[in-house]
Amino acid sequence: MKEKRLITAALTYVNNIPHVGHIVGCHLPADIFARFCRSYGYDTTFVGGSDMHGTPSMVTAQEIGVDVETLTSTLHEVHKKIYSRLGISYDIYSNTHTDTHEEITDDFFASLHKRGYISEGTASVFYCEHCDTFLPDRFVRGTCPKCGNKEASGDQCEKCDSLFSPAELIDAVCKTCGNKAVLKETKHIFLSLSKGEKMLEEYIESRKDVWRPHVYSEAKKWLKEGLKDRCISRDIKWGFKVPLEGYEDKVFYVWFDAPIGYISITKELSNEKYQDIWKEKNGKIYNFIGKDNIQFHTVFFPTMLLEEGHYNTAYNVVGLNFLNFEGKKFSKSKKIGVFCNAFLNDDVNVDVDTMRAYLTTIIPENKDTDFKWEEFKNNCNSELVGKFGNLFNRTLNMVKNYFNCHLDTDLSVLELGDADQEVVRSIQEFPAKIASAFENVELREAYKLIMNYAVGCNGYIEKSTPWSLMKEGKTKEAEKVLYLALNVCASLCIVASPIMPDKTRRLWQEQLGLSGDPTSPDFWQRASQMNIPSSHTIGEVSPMFERLDDIRLNEIKDILSEPFDIKEYFENKD
Ligand code: 2FM
Ligand code: ZN
Repeated sequence: MKEKRLITAALTYVNNIPHVGHIVGCHLPADIFARFCRSYGYDTTFVGGSDMHGTPSMVTAQEIGVDVETLTSTLHEVHKKIYSRLGISYDIYSNTHTDTHEEITDDFFASLHKRGYISEGTASVFYCEHCDTFLPDRFVRGTCPKCGNKEASGDQCEKCDSLFSPAELIDAVCKTCGNKAVLKETKHIFLSLSKGEKMLEEYIESRKDVWRPHVYSEAKKWLKEGLKDRCISRDIKWGFKVPLEGYEDKVFYVWFDAPIGYISITKELSNEKYQDIWKEKNGKIYNFIGKDNIQFHTVFFPTMLLEEGHYNTAYNVVGLNFLNFEGKKFSKSKKIGVFCNAFLNDDVNVDVDTMRAYLTTIIPENKDTDFKWEEFKNNCNSELVGKFGNLFNRTLNMVKNYFNCHLDTDLSVLELGDADQEVVRSIQEFPAKIASAFENVELREAYKLIMNYAVGCNGYIEKSTPWSLMKEGKTKEAEKVLYLALNVCASLCIVASPIMPDKTRRLWQEQLGLSGDPTSPDFWQRASQMNIPSSHTIGEVSPMFERLDDIRLNEIKDILSEPFDIKEYFENKD
């Protein structure tokens, strides 16, 4: 039986469109891993969606003057389209404002309540006398009690990443009107995290060898500080109503319902998978998230799951770091970054796999990383064109020019010299090494190994000099070299397919002239085999990767650096 794997990517807030930091810090690594898992033969499910509730969307809706429901449902479609254009292979991309989600959230809450993990109490919440409304976290600004940042929001500081209670915020003002925000007592419901502490500790310990050290140590840090009960209701209109008498005018805190979205979205895709993975706990769950979400995925959500008692918990929480842009923080307002709105345009002239390949080299796996246009160009020219593409080009071109596109080789009767044997060994050994890097979610390492694999075969061609062999009339020898090199190319298509799905499929089918699809499930086992039939005709040969000069680089820069004007988008939408 195949091992089952459920891969999730953090559900994105839909208060704007994604920039490349969101892609490289979550959707892309999750996608590469999911593609690898499918190929390797795991029974893989990859789910994602939009996090519709919460105040980020409310703030934006208010700023641009549309209602929050229109804003989120429209942006949900925008997100969905962008991910699909970038080749993110979600089996389902849904959202947290669906009937299924509300039903599961309500049941989840009822179960926690019944089991004694929900308590009622009061909380001090900011209120604006001028606007006559309670102020959710992001509608309040003030000074961070920990680092002094003057732009902290109601309960968290983006500068130092700390979370605090509203009473701790210094000099709080209403974000809408700028007047002083006052604290008012109001009744709320609380999730008892302390009652689950023991279970959580055991869970976190059981993950010690699987989670990355920084994820594990952050979880331990929260545990050590002691878990305080957490208010899970809010005095706002946007969200799911709390299904408890006396709380009809309140909604669930966004972080209560959002992670339950992983469950409901799986159910929306397939009831069978939902039962199997979440309820029967058959299979491993991998959560891909940014570092600002670690606490929620290693403490808050697991405690919810353990207290509820019927659901599976994550096997691995893959916490990724942040991406900066040319040494600076992404900022839409300062036009610093790479934005994805260009991908809404159906004929955008930017090659997705070239971008995916570069982004793979800067996945912030262990520390923050930097997007640099110069590096993007270098990766394209020296790695994709110079190494990977070069191997395909020269091999295919020689097959075309020397053998009229057709090889007749019988490996079983070929005499293999040292260099030939080495290249055969590389076909037998590289895919397993690459698989192990993918398996450990070391995607940058996998990419490096793929390039080394190609470089090794380029070296083999250099050493074997099929062009001289042809001149010397050693046709069979030259044919053997090209046959082996062609097999490396085929193998490379399979192992590189999680990163460059479109290029590798096209290389395989159109140029190598092979049947089947290297991006389809269970294909990986063929990566260490000889895939080229002994009598084989290749397809059309043409360079698959385009060398970038500064003119072309600037064109791409221009296309992708244009920030998305959300207000304008909504004004011109119809
Ligand atoms: O930080 C964010 O963008 C959140 N919307 C992530 C939620 S992840 C999950 F729990 F839904
Ligand atoms: Zn106000």
